[in-house]
Amino acid sequence: MTSTPAKQDRVLIFDTTLRDGEQSPGATMSHSEKLEIAALLDEMGVDIIEAGFPIASEGDFNAVSEIARNAKNSVICGLSRANLTDIDRCWEAVKHAPRGRIHTFIGTSPLHREITALDKDGMIARIHATVTHARNLCDDVQWSPMDATRTEHDYLCRVVETAIKAGATTINIPDTVGYTYPRESAELIAMLRDRVPGADTVIFATHCHNDLGMATANALAAVEAGARQIECTINGLGERAGNTALEEVVMALRVRNDILPYRTGIDTKKIIGISRMVAAVSGFPVQYNKAVVGKNAFAHESGIHQDGMLKNKETFEIMRPEDIGLAATNLVMGKHSGRAALRAKLSELGYELGDNQLKDVFVRFKALADRKKEVYDDDLIALMAEASLND
Ligand code: KIV
Ligand code: ZN
Repeated sequence: MTSTPAKQDRVLIFDTTLRDGEQSPGATMSHSEKLEIAALLDEMGVDIIEAGFPIASEGDFNAVSEIARNAKNSVICGLSRANLTDIDRCWEAVKHAPRGRIHTFIGTSPLHREITALDKDGMIARIHATVTHARNLCDDVQWSPMDATRTEHDYLCRVVETAIKAGATTINIPDTVGYTYPRESAELIAMLRDRVPGADTVIFATHCHNDLGMATANALAAVEAGARQIECTINGLGERAGNTALEEVVMALRVRNDILPYRTGIDTKKIIGISRMVAAVSGFPVQYNKAVVGKNAFAHESGIHQDGMLKNKETFEIMRPEDIGLAATNLVMGKHSGRAALRAKLSELGYELGDNQLKDVFVRFKALADRKKEVYDDDLIALMAEASLND
């Protein structure tokens, strides 16, 4: 892979929870929920918020327009297909923002060319006309060749060159069906940056879907090759298996800054709050073992892990719970828990036990834990009451 280094070390975060995320079947959000989420995204430092698809419905148009009016720091973006009516409608909605962006796209792979009934040259002409039109309305134009990762490389270079010549300022490379592989994702960005005239005048973005569980790896590989905008959603919400998860790429760039020395503008302490909000309004609960924001991401039940955590938190955690906005690590009491964790938990609840007492309570605790999946604080208080009655 031969790739010249990208100029900036700042990676832009483009959140599409309200557009690609909402396209997830069953995830429709109300107008007020969208406004609330957009305000949180803006507050947490998201660079660009894709607020919706204005031509899709009156509701989407109104939501994008109001989000644009309320925007404080983020660029507000709307999506449009490659036709003048869509683009005009999109501009009508995003123009209210202090900084608005038109995002226009067309499917460029052989499969999509067949569906749109455009041959290669016909599609080039369409791209040129629509991007030129968008750029006449707005200084900030993003263009995407949908299904880029299944588009022939020579043709992909041609369409990207056309969009740049017509005035696109960001070129997004979508892995629409989650088909690519990390090495391939990097090579594609490197190839475009090397071969396309004018590539150094635009920002390359990566937009990955998670059909094979590789969206985060593919996005980060693209960054290594020079992409400087990551498109993502909160909790990875999105069509089918979802999109790259914002919390994963942001925390990966933070934790492994030694490998990927790039910064984002995200206030990571706001991650857990917005994750819970998106789960609640979309009706899509976060799986317990989801990276970064799952209920178990900072929870430990096994004795060895709990003992290690009580001695040094770095033994079994690579991020601090406070960094994503959680109060503390959760030492879950269950049948795998050991004596050290039980002593610490009881101390937290106000019980200081001598060694003999602890030995007795530990036996009772294990018997209870065998019957119950999780032993809660109230269970331990009851256990202590029972132990003192039997003294
Ligand atoms: O996945 C995709 O290709 C998209 C485009 C509209 C950018 O969401
Ligand atoms: Zn998508």
